[in-house]
Amino acid sequence: MASTALFPPQIEANRKLIEDALERYCDFDSDCPQHLAEAIRYCLLAPGKRIRPLLTLAASEVCGGEMSNAIPAACAVEMIHNYSLIHDDLPAMDDDELRRGRPTCHIKFDEATAILAGDALIPMAFETIAKEIQPSDVALECSRLLARASGPSKLVGGQADDLGCEFGERDRVMLERIHSRKTGALLTVSLEMGAVTAQASGSHRRSLVEYGKHLGLAFQIVDDLLDFRGSQTKMGKRTGKDADRGKLTYPSVLGEAESETLVHQITDQAIASIEPFGEAAKPLELLARFVVSRTQ
Ligand code: IPE
Ligand code: IPE
Ligand code: MG
Ligand code: MG
Ligand code: MG
Repeated sequence: MASTALFPPQIEANRKLIEDALERYCDFDSDCPQHLAEAIRYCLLAPGKRIRPLLTLAASEVCGGEMSNAIPAACAVEMIHNYSLIHDDLPAMDDDELRRGRPTCHIKFDEATAILAGDALIPMAFETIAKEIQPSDVALECSRLLARASGPSKLVGGQADDLGCEFGERDRVMLERIHSRKTGALLTVSLEMGAVTAQASGSHRRSLVEYGKHLGLAFQIVDDLLDFRGSQTKMGKRTGKDADRGKLTYPSVLGEAESETLVHQITDQAIASIEPFGEAAKPLELLARFVVSRTQ
């Protein structure tokens, strides 16, 4: 996957702010072994789309928040996301060799280093929140939300069921539960943290959470569709792997056409959730449209 422009200029400008901040947060001291620092940088600074941190910044902006608070929250989510990708690619999980157009962490380094690089990104996320977000009650709320979204009942639980369901029962209810936890929770918390750092009203926060729940599900259905029919060159990761492993995915349960229709319906619901923001919601609408139409 190339790190060329994916979004309109104002969103690309935010992407650059995120990239620069991630680079700053990779300032390891001499007690961090060189090869571990290298593995963390290799993964975290690789050309990702940065959808989650872009959502945090867009949510903060729509609520009138300051970038100085939103950027650390955005980067913390990206750190958790990157840890989840490193572990997701391990032989014990999806066993993938390509990510963002490059060898996965355990291929480039070794399995132990990949496990440890993933491990390291988790405390890095919480340290970033604790050090950089003001006032402390906002930092505390962000930590609580991110811990919950990445924990055993959300991201990790969804991942566990995703693995457990291979060759399992093709149940639509289970499928939605897996997708909304393994992927949806982190997208939703990206938006909620944007609202929290902006000290938004309860109703604005709820609208963003509602938008996030829809968008998170749409995002993973599109990931399933791209795996089903997408291009490895564009995606920067192997395609066709879900079917090979008998994964429970939307195209495998509903078929391609119905999954596509569902993505459009859910995205419309996401966009309807942010109507209370009026014209100011345009960047969030653009991000939602990107999620549906993306090819990588
Ligand atoms: C991939 O996420 C993993 C899923 C949850 C589907 P992204 O598609 O956001 O991956 P990057 O960060 O852009 O590489
Ligand atoms: C991954 O879902 C979700 C994570 C929590 C990382 P997938 O296993 O479908 O993601 P890809 O296709 O490997 O990026
Ligand atoms: Mg997986
Ligand atoms: Mg995977
Ligand atoms: Mg996938």
